[in-house]
Amino acid sequence: MDRRVRKAVLPVAGLGTRVLPGAKTTPKNMLNVFDRPILSYIIEEGRAAGIEHFVFIVGRGQGAIEDYFDASPEIEGALEAKGKADILAEVRRDLPEPGQMSFVRQMAPLGLGHAVWCARDIIGDEPFAVMLPDMLMAAAPAALAQVVSAHGQVGGNIIAVEPAPEGQAHKYGIVDLEGQIGRLNRMRGMVEKPAPGTEPSNLFISGRYVLQPEIFPLLEKQGKGAGGEIQLTDAMAELMKIQPFHALEYDGVTYDCGDKIGLLRANVAFALRHPSLGQMAREAIDSLL
Ligand code: UTP
Repeated sequence: MDRRVRKAVLPVAGLGTRVLPGAKTTPKNMLNVFDRPILSYIIEEGRAAGIEHFVFIVGRGQGAIEDYFDASPEIEGALEAKGKADILAEVRRDLPEPGQMSFVRQMAPLGLGHAVWCARDIIGDEPFAVMLPDMLMAAAPAALAQVVSAHGQVGGNIIAVEPAPEGQAHKYGIVDLEGQIGRLNRMRGMVEKPAPGTEPSNLFISGRYVLQPEIFPLLEKQGKGAGGEIQLTDAMAELMKIQPFHALEYDGVTYDCGDKIGLLRANVAFALRHPSLGQMAREAIDSLL
């Protein structure tokens, strides 16, 4: 029987070249989506899925991430003194309990597979989640909660997928399914950026996974793949030879904050969804059109 998914790996050490110059001094995942950093949404999603420990894989110059998840006595004290309880609650909402977050330096951005491998000692011998923090999911229940629940049903490895926009499947990592009944289907394989017309499905890998710890020895011996990087997909393809993988077409929408237009779309979408400021955001956006 598979064990519970308690830990999540968040690889944030990429260079974020597509959102430069914004990501030059601010880590990409600390850029704001409307009223809070991208990572604030990701942590909220992870917690909703029952994650108890977040392992960040960071690079140089990303100390702002660690600082964001630490107490800030000056700011909190000033807000307390001024009686600004609502802002204080927002500042504190993302804080972990001491010991619930780890930060590991990747030391060189050798690829997503290498980043995940850097978490091996902290994850140990249990199933774990991977959350690509560029990908913001608008979903209820939270996207990772749906993935973890699928893992509770069928065990093994789970990959969240979503239909690619019409005619766009060749731009993504696409899953190949044994058959398609409902939303949770056993996988046969996956293809990175298939040539147009050769896509095995229209479902793209959207950035939430539950993986078994047997991925680590495979990552250890994984050579460089596409783009000269150590690819997570190559190690997953190896693991698929010995363990089941299921694709979950989760209920929700992904916003790719890794490029400028995706980040703009996320800003607009999450502003419109904001519980108290959504209506004002709508009026502000309308006034620009
Ligand atoms: P991306 O390729 O989308 O991110 O990697 P990037 O490298 O930051 O983006 P560009 O292309 O330069 O704009 C997917 C995720 O994997 C992480 C990234 O931070 C991102 O969250 N990653 C990638 C690492 O942590 N380490 C790596 O060596 C590569």
